Amino acid sequence: MATVKEQLIENLIAEDELSQSKISIVGTGAVGMACAISILLKGLADELALVDVAEDKLKGETMDLQHGSLFFHTSKITSGKDCSVSENSKLVIITAGARQQEGESRLALVQRNVNIMKSMIPAIVRHSPECKILVVSNPVDILTYVVWKLSGFPPSRIIGTGCNLDSARFRYLIGEKLGVHPTSCHGWIIGEHGDSSVPLWSGVNVAGVPLKTLNPQLGTDSDKDQWKNIHKQVVNSAYEIIKRKGYTSWAIGLSVTDLAESILKNLRRVHPVSTMIKDLYGIKEEIFLSVPCILGRNGVSDIVKIKLNSEEENLFKKSATTIWNVQKDLII
Ligand code: 2OP
Repeated sequence: MATVKEQLIENLIAEDELSQSKISIVGTGAVGMACAISILLKGLADELALVDVAEDKLKGETMDLQHGSLFFHTSKITSGKDCSVSENSKLVIITAGARQQEGESRLALVQRNVNIMKSMIPAIVRHSPECKILVVSNPVDILTYVVWKLSGFPPSRIIGTGCNLDSARFRYLIGEKLGVHPTSCHGWIIGEHGDSSVPLWSGVNVAGVPLKTLNPQLGTDSDKDQWKNIHKQVVNSAYEIIKRKGYTSWAIGLSVTDLAESILKNLRRVHPVSTMIKDLYGIKEEIFLSVPCILGRNGVSDIVKIKLNSEEENLFKKSATTIWNVQKDLII
């Protein structure tokens, strides 16, 4: 007797199994799952693959997402402990690794997470030789360098989330101070995603009106309005959140999805992400830091050459030194 499916459906052509815009997420902790739900709700992929060594948790997360399939438009959610499940990805998002404990800096995680990258990047590259890799794990600037070295890819295809989230926090806090939505408050943070990040007060503007023309002390200690506190809040954000809920997840997941959209849709939007900055601003080492980058199907295709004033350039070089001082002793 023919099956119900055979009686119900007349097949006309064979289904092409190969996904066309597959995203894989390595690491299904709080950050990985925030990326997953955000990517699903934005409908960026025709397949989402999840990779993690914690098989039970992975199976539970996968089932829980699959059961929501009625409410989003991603036709395939797959998962597995082995990186082979990421085969044929357009974009691989790396969130795996140890995360900051209360009061712990991102840089303190470095050697543990370098070892984790060494254990998985060769397989990821083997299964998706043309993919872009978006590094989220911390310390993200150093791990983006490490993933670049391990992958053998051009630096354009290895992107660190970097200061994309710092700049989002910066714009949110500026908006709170002004009573204006963050999308209309323009401000960039560059350098290290972390304690030595650099706020570009000279460029902060609303509707093209530079705030520095309204308050020349903006961002300085002598500013009566103490705008500088906004950057201090940005730097302290993760520590404050980790102290309260143990980790950060939603904002980083949303910011990762914003980057993924620019890449997968070839939007060529400018984002402050961590890229190879050797020979920029007099930096001689092979380090990755955030600068405004044009993001599209080829990853970082261009860098916007921002003009830094002397204070900003000094802070940027200090940020570079902070990263180099940790990176130079790494065993990769
Ligand atoms: C954040 O800034 C922990 O790097 C992560 O939220």
